[in-house]
Amino acid sequence: MSKVLSAHAVSVDGYITGRDPGAGRGLGDGTTLFDWYFAGDTPSRVFDGFKLSESSARVFDAFAGRVGAVVAGRNTYDDSDGFGGGSPHPNARLVVLSHRPVPEISERQTLVTTGIEDAIAAAREAAGDGDVGLMGGGVLTEALKAGLVDEVVLHQVPVLLGGGRPFFQTLPEHVRLRLIEAVPAPGVTHLHYAVER
Ligand SMILES: NC(=O)c1ccc[n+]([C@@H]2O[C@H](COP(=O)([O-])OP(=O)(O)OC[C@H]3O[C@@H](n4cnc5c(N)ncnc54)[C@H](OP(=O)(O)O)[C@@H]3O)[C@@H](O)[C@H]2O)c1
Repeated sequence: MSKVLSAHAVSVDGYITGRDPGAGRGLGDGTTLFDWYFAGDTPSRVFDGFKLSESSARVFDAFAGRVGAVVAGRNTYDDSDGFGGGSPHPNARLVVLSHRPVPEISERQTLVTTGIEDAIAAAREAAGDGDVGLMGGGVLTEALKAGLVDEVVLHQVPVLLGGGRPFFQTLPEHVRLRLIEAVPAPGVTHLHYAVER
């Protein structure tokens, strides 16, 4: 069965956006979280236009290459202007999780309003042999609560943003993680964890 993973660029104080994210404003004042995408000479094999350091390219492409479908939360969808009717990933269908209708959803996107289990099931089906990527702290938290997350990746950027949307939200109990790999790279440290169940 395909795995479920969530890989985000995150500040050392745990934010995946800066202050005031939103439609037309993206990550708000937290755009520095993505600087490492363009801080090297190695083109990504998956994302056109990304030029990473050699060590970041190895890690980034390893994850990006596994993803066959993405589940994004409504805030991620709205703050990213609906991904222009497409997907945040060049090779993966987008499943949007919301409690509410999304009037502008396109035929290249799937809306699920019946919960995280159904969203991940729809993404698994769309992913074929690929894995499912989760986008958004809210969605990651819901999936952790449901026991559906296999791996978490922090692309940890050495900045304290001081505010924004948090990667991890309130959980009812501890979730144990096992470090698989830690890769220091220019402008970012890649921390790859398995979720222990
Ligand atoms: N730094 C990075 O690498 C990175 C990566 C991805 C995203 N981001 C950014 O991070 C922010 C993510 O924001 P976030 O963590 O607040 O939100 P999110 O996970 O993207 O979305 C949360 C929303 O999804 C819907 N939702 C969540 N669980 C649900 C459930 N079980 N059933 C139905 N709907 C459910 C709810 O929307 P409704 O109740 O409103 O329908 C909820 O408010 C965005 O600004 C995004 O651009 C950053």
